[in-house]
Amino acid sequence: MSAIDIIILAAGKGTRMRSELPKVLHRLAGKPLITHVLDAASALADGRITVVAGHGMDLVQGEIENFQGELQQRTKNSCPIKCIEQKEQLGSGHAVQQAIPGLDNSASTALVLYGDVPLLDTRTLERMLVSAAQGKLTLLTVVLSDPSGYGRILRDSADQVIGIVEQKDASVDQLAIAEINTGIMAMPVTRLKEWLPQLSNDNAQGEYYLTDIVALAAQQKMVIETLHPESIEEVEGVNNRSQLARLERYYQARQAETLMEAGVALADPARFDCRGSITAGRDVFIDINCVFAGEVALGDGVSIGPNCSIANATIGDGAIIKANTVIEGPVTIEAGVQVGPFARLREGTVLRKHAKVGNFVEIKKTELGEGSKASHLSYLGDTRLGKDVNVGAGTITCNYDGVNKHRTDIGDNVFVGSNSSLVAPVAIGEGATIGAGSTITRDVPPSSLSVARGKQKTIEGWQRPEKKGPEKNSPEKREK
Ligand code: UD1
Ligand code: CA
Repeated sequence: MSAIDIIILAAGKGTRMRSELPKVLHRLAGKPLITHVLDAASALADGRITVVAGHGMDLVQGEIENFQGELQQRTKNSCPIKCIEQKEQLGSGHAVQQAIPGLDNSASTALVLYGDVPLLDTRTLERMLVSAAQGKLTLLTVVLSDPSGYGRILRDSADQVIGIVEQKDASVDQLAIAEINTGIMAMPVTRLKEWLPQLSNDNAQGEYYLTDIVALAAQQKMVIETLHPESIEEVEGVNNRSQLARLERYYQARQAETLMEAGVALADPARFDCRGSITAGRDVFIDINCVFAGEVALGDGVSIGPNCSIANATIGDGAIIKANTVIEGPVTIEAGVQVGPFARLREGTVLRKHAKVGNFVEIKKTELGEGSKASHLSYLGDTRLGKDVNVGAGTITCNYDGVNKHRTDIGDNVFVGSNSSLVAPVAIGEGATIGAGSTITRDVPPSSLSVARGKQKTIEGWQRPEKKGPEKNSPEKREK
């Protein structure tokens, strides 16, 4: 197949979103709507994309650049994408026309997509391209029980498509037609270039309708083919926040289904959200209200408690993540580790096999060696802990002097007593013991005991001071 020019319309303001953000940058499953479209489009062989932007063009362009960078990293092949401006929104036909001068003449087929229709499947687009490559005008249509708002597909007595009429221009009879235009279409580029200058804005909205090319094609006796998507949600557009929320739930339900098919147990597929991707081994269990983001890999038998937020993490076989744990990766958790409840693992946390992190522990850029434990109320930052270290409750690494971050190094088998402060840079040798409540500012040699706190002083028979003034229950006080 020769090259394909993909034109994505994204200039609309999206008034009904009632938002400062351009509509196509609103997110579905954590990803801008336009990026979903770019994903589907860039997977087509030999595609070249032109995005027609208008409102918030700079922001849209920025997102396109992000996408291109990620695409290159992910697949090593790139898909040329450019962004052009439609200064005034004079209609979908006018929008496509803005893209034409920038196209070279090497493509044979054009494909028009909408930036606010996020869930189109690449396979549906491939079917359309096959049809258009045979010289047809190919329309993606669906039959809806409630077609209101959409352009209706007009057919003659032989059932051939003869045009599209917009809702606002339609007669009562035409409004009764249930087959609607999804807006997605493909055709030979030469024909598109020929039709666009013939469009007029003599209609109810005073716009240049792209849909009017269908009547022009019919007049030329061109073959017009209609294809249908696998599901209606594939072609659903986002015009307001309620539609966006509905598509989000549809998308999440589908992801939940895919995971369950792969053997993951979800306590409730309706309370599952993945805003990235998950790979999972066998017999993984995920409790309710968990949110996943970025890339998450779960080993065999991993169990995740309720209300966890997990982003960019690799979690090894048999690890248990208890309720309300927050993981903001990149984080690596090895086999048999236990985390939570109420733990927070930040970027650069590495928990080696059978390590244990308990409630209200925050960890950042820190490696916990095999079998090491921080069970309660700690902050560990910029630290290496060896094997079988016990970090007592309330232990803090003081890694920040107000300007720079410093490292703490803790050897194997160290025991840190509760409520200790380890003032970095500091190293604690293998097998050392730190007495509870210590503030450690100097290196501790291996196998030693360090206690750095005020000595306890005890005064026997101590009398507490008594309150001066009238007695508590004296008559004067009661009269008041
Ligand atoms: C359009 C179709 C209609 C179809 C419906 C499907 C036309 C004339 N009508 O109607 O047949 O049923 O989509 O959702 O095409 N856009 C621009 N610049 C413009 C105008 C629109 O970029 O000047 C973009 C919008 O951002 C949007 C798309 O084109 O992504 C469709 O425009 P919109 O105004 O939403 O058209 P509809 O009235 O919904
Ligand atoms: Ca629309």
